[in-house]
Amino acid sequence: MLPHTLWSFLFLSVFSSFVSAQGPVQTLFPASIPLAVKHPYMSVWYASSNTSLPLSNSWPVFWGQASIIGWAGKIRVDGTTYKWLGNDPNGGAPANVTNVQFTPTRTIFVMQAGPMNLTVTFLTPIEPDDWVKQSIPFSYISVEAQSLDGNSHAVQLYSDISAEWLSGNRSSPVQWSNNNTGNTLFHEIELQQPQQDVEINHQAQDGKAYYAMPVKTGVSWQIDTDQNTRSTFVSNGNLHNTASTAFAPISPVFTVFAIAIDLGTITLTSDPVTWSVGYVRDPVISYTTATGATQQRRPLWATQYSSVADVIDAFTADFPAAHDRAVALDAQILGSASQISSEYADLVALATRQAVSALDFTVGTDSKGNVDPGDVKLFMKNIGTDQRVSPVEHIFAAFPTYLYLNASWGGALLEPLLELQDNQVGQQFAAQDLGDSYPVASGARGAAAQGIEQSGNMLITLLAQARLSGNGTLLIQHYNTTKRWADYLNNNALTPNGQRNADGETSANMTNLAIKGIIGVKAMAEIARVVGEEVDAAQYDGQAAALLGEWQSLATGTSSHLLGRYGDQGTWSLMYNMFADKMLGLNFIPQTVISEQTQFYSSLLTTASQLGLPIDSDSGQTSNAAWLLFTSAFVSDSTVRDNLIKGVHNHANFNQSSGVFPEIYNDATGAGLNGFAGPALGALFSHLALTVPNTTISTATSTTGTGDGNGNGGDHKGGSSNGGAIAGGVIGGLAIVGIAIGIFFLIRRRRRNQGFDEREKIEIVEQAPHVPTLAPYSYYEHPAPGSPRAGAGYVPVSPHSETTAGFAGLGSGGDGQHGAGHHLSEGNLAYATDSFESMQPSAVHVSKAREAAQTRVHAYAPSIATSSAVGSALGSQTGSASSRDPLSPGSGSATGSGSVATSLSPTDVLGLRAEVENLRRVMQEIRAERFEPPPEYVEE
Ligand SMILES: *[C@@H]1O[C@H](CO)[C@@H](O)[C@H](O)[C@H]1NC(C)=O
Ligand SMILES: *[C@@H]1O[C@H](CO)[C@@H](O)[C@H](O)[C@H]1NC(C)=O
Ligand SMILES: *[C@@H]1O[C@H](CO)[C@@H](O)[C@H](O)[C@H]1NC(C)=O
Ligand SMILES: *[C@@H]1O[C@H](CO)[C@@H](O)[C@H](O)[C@H]1NC(C)=O
Ligand SMILES: *[C@@H]1O[C@H](CO)[C@@H](O)[C@H](O)[C@H]1NC(C)=O
Ligand SMILES: *[C@@H]1O[C@H](CO)[C@@H](O)[C@H](O)[C@H]1NC(C)=O
Repeated sequence: MLPHTLWSFLFLSVFSSFVSAQGPVQTLFPASIPLAVKHPYMSVWYASSNTSLPLSNSWPVFWGQASIIGWAGKIRVDGTTYKWLGNDPNGGAPANVTNVQFTPTRTIFVMQAGPMNLTVTFLTPIEPDDWVKQSIPFSYISVEAQSLDGNSHAVQLYSDISAEWLSGNRSSPVQWSNNNTGNTLFHEIELQQPQQDVEINHQAQDGKAYYAMPVKTGVSWQIDTDQNTRSTFVSNGNLHNTASTAFAPISPVFTVFAIAIDLGTITLTSDPVTWSVGYVRDPVISYTTATGATQQRRPLWATQYSSVADVIDAFTADFPAAHDRAVALDAQILGSASQISSEYADLVALATRQAVSALDFTVGTDSKGNVDPGDVKLFMKNIGTDQRVSPVEHIFAAFPTYLYLNASWGGALLEPLLELQDNQVGQQFAAQDLGDSYPVASGARGAAAQGIEQSGNMLITLLAQARLSGNGTLLIQHYNTTKRWADYLNNNALTPNGQRNADGETSANMTNLAIKGIIGVKAMAEIARVVGEEVDAAQYDGQAAALLGEWQSLATGTSSHLLGRYGDQGTWSLMYNMFADKMLGLNFIPQTVISEQTQFYSSLLTTASQLGLPIDSDSGQTSNAAWLLFTSAFVSDSTVRDNLIKGVHNHANFNQSSGVFPEIYNDATGAGLNGFAGPALGALFSHLALTVPNTTISTATSTTGTGDGNGNGGDHKGGSSNGGAIAGGVIGGLAIVGIAIGIFFLIRRRRRNQGFDEREKIEIVEQAPHVPTLAPYSYYEHPAPGSPRAGAGYVPVSPHSETTAGFAGLGSGGDGQHGAGHHLSEGNLAYATDSFESMQPSAVHVSKAREAAQTRVHAYAPSIATSSAVGSALGSQTGSASSRDPLSPGSGSATGSGSVATSLSPTDVLGLRAEVENLRRVMQEIRAERFEPPPEYVEE
């Protein structure tokens, strides 16, 4: 499989460089758009259209969507202010959004603000190879501006955050300071009475919020009421460099923390103007260890930085490099994903940040509070469902994302679950989580009714991470524990009774639950083999084979497909647990079973909702995006595969229902049901996880020896895997590619672990030139026609208020005489110099009218009022597409001269691949009414 994968990827890369002249077509119009989605308590989204108000404009919201997170952005051009983020009613005309594009790490808006073309990029880094960087709880927002009329203009940029980032209780008093490290200017905001480990409306109460920018010419700042601060910018184009000392509650009078920059008179920004926003908690997790002691676990960055100020300095300075890494990672992921389909790539782009942000990367502390760099553990919050800590069935669902990005993340996520159960010898089955109240990991909680589900999940994920990381340490350390679980499965899995599956179903004899348990027994055979316990391996192999045979006869009904429950004709199931066999490369389930299931799904799909098949014959109209994608990754027919994916894509694209990308939804109405913003969407990486080659699992005792190494003896010789065979295949594949294609770009496969020996894989990949990605700021890969969003008033924080949709002032339009290609001219690629010298402050003055309007401030209007306010305030937004409609083939200004930036942009390819019909429809819609909501799906 790998050679084929490389082949296609290389082909794509070359191919896309020819088509990048035209910006990709936006193919996804989700109900919620990720803005800063970094960790469980920093998850800020834009609700693009959860009502039928495509032109409305609203504030960003926390993932639960009930709480606004104040975040504003403005640009002042020749004295006139436009808002590009946040619905500040006095903040100027909204910039029109012309394009929105998603990549795994970025959301990119292209907008028009008067004579300027703005590109606003929300970048939340994902750092598969650098755990410390991954643990840094910050995200970037960067803006570039380019004159659309060829003239230079006096330009100032502004952005602020409010204290809403700090707490779900908006009456909480806060305090703040402005700090300057010499390199970075930043605001620090904290609650006056923080409460550790308490959560209100999904937000933590024990963190500090930061807003930062590197110190440079033209920067100014202010901390004051929203009205004072924003009107200062609107009037002057800069801020007073003063901080109010009137500490106050978060609301009703909003204090905002602003940083502005005067760029002088320019035709285009030489560098992106970048703010860094962070929400920092320390400690991160209260963890009750196996001895019963409670450990305050710190963020992993604490191993490298002694203060938050150092973290901020490092993060802000790292933007250019972080952007390069993000572009490369995006190209790698989307390049691979687009080999399945453009719709699949869309889904992956939307799900990645969500899946990764459910994790906290932590380091243990000793009794003196010093960090122990050898003790690294990850914890997952069950975002969108409840507050459970490391929910095992959602770890199973999300695992493909972690396997793909860095399989060792998976090990560090499983480790606390394993170490806490080593001594629970009286409990035969695996626990379902580490507590019900994140971030308090109070202990492993087991429930007999979930014994098959969770024991299966643990054995499967444990083996999976070892195969792909090559690290067998956990297999050795927890061998007895895994054996206990495997024995339980051997005794119970075949005929589940009194059991509950991940979908909350409790029927006896569920075929899909049984096979998970049986695959668990088979996984144990592999684990035993890796550890060198050949006798055990043979025993579990035999048991698994016997169980499988019995299962097949019990599960098969009068028709050839598998029944949902034994003996119950007419029942069926997605059988998503069979994906585990694929993920582990076991080839355990007979191909005939898979083909027959595939046939069966093919027939079901002919009458299915456009939003996908339900989970099984008992689940009515309830669909699960994770399980649909698991199923799509084991079926043996690519049409069936694509149709399963299409249902999930249609739902992701169905923005008539509110909520952040949910795991579970009603496939008749489209309504999201559960798992909003949840980690289970990591399952969308199912196909990508299969492209990661497995590696010889090493059982050499690692240097760390965190203390609980207990293993069963030292003579483990690993080596159950076929790394060598794969390596050979890869070499062959590369040779062919090398002959066929002269030049190609290969994004080096990310290392899957921290320096573990997986030389076979890496060496091979490195034979290909490691070509960097795009020129840092070329936008070839971005834009797609989007919907401009109008501004809406602040929505009340009442839990009921769904914020209205519309892009928070992300507005835009475009036209461009200036091919974006200009961005690429060598001179402009440098991050180095700013051209602030030419500032012309005098050029600006605000209209009286605008000043008068300042009186209204930031009022919280009921959400209903919001809608109408939006309508009037933003009426102009509806505007038709600008003459340079980026969608129209002719206008592809982007590439221009910039051939230098042979962009890998897989999304370009996605655009091309879109059905012609679909393309035409989109273009028509956009021309007619720019911001029509996404297509609706007829319900059944
Ligand atoms: C910022 O400045 C305040 C006041 O001087 C200080 O208490 C705080 O520790 C500083 N924050 C950081 C992160 O350095
Ligand atoms: C489950 O299936 C087995 C095997 O067919 C059967 O013996 C048993 O009665 C079934 N259990 C229930 C509760 O129906
Ligand atoms: C694992 O089980 C074996 C056999 O029962 C026992 O000898 C060994 O001490 C156990 N190891 C640990 C770490 O408990
Ligand atoms: C292997 O995994 C163990 C357990 O998670 C970890 O402590 C160790 O650092 C890993 N080894 C390497 C070389 O990454
Ligand atoms: C605006 O900027 C984007 C990103 O650089 C570019 O793709 C687009 O073509 C520009 N629009 C116009 C009208 O120049
Ligand atoms: C948005 O588009 C409308 C219609 O073309 C136009 O009238 C308005 O000036 C634009 N707004 C901005 C901020 O450019």
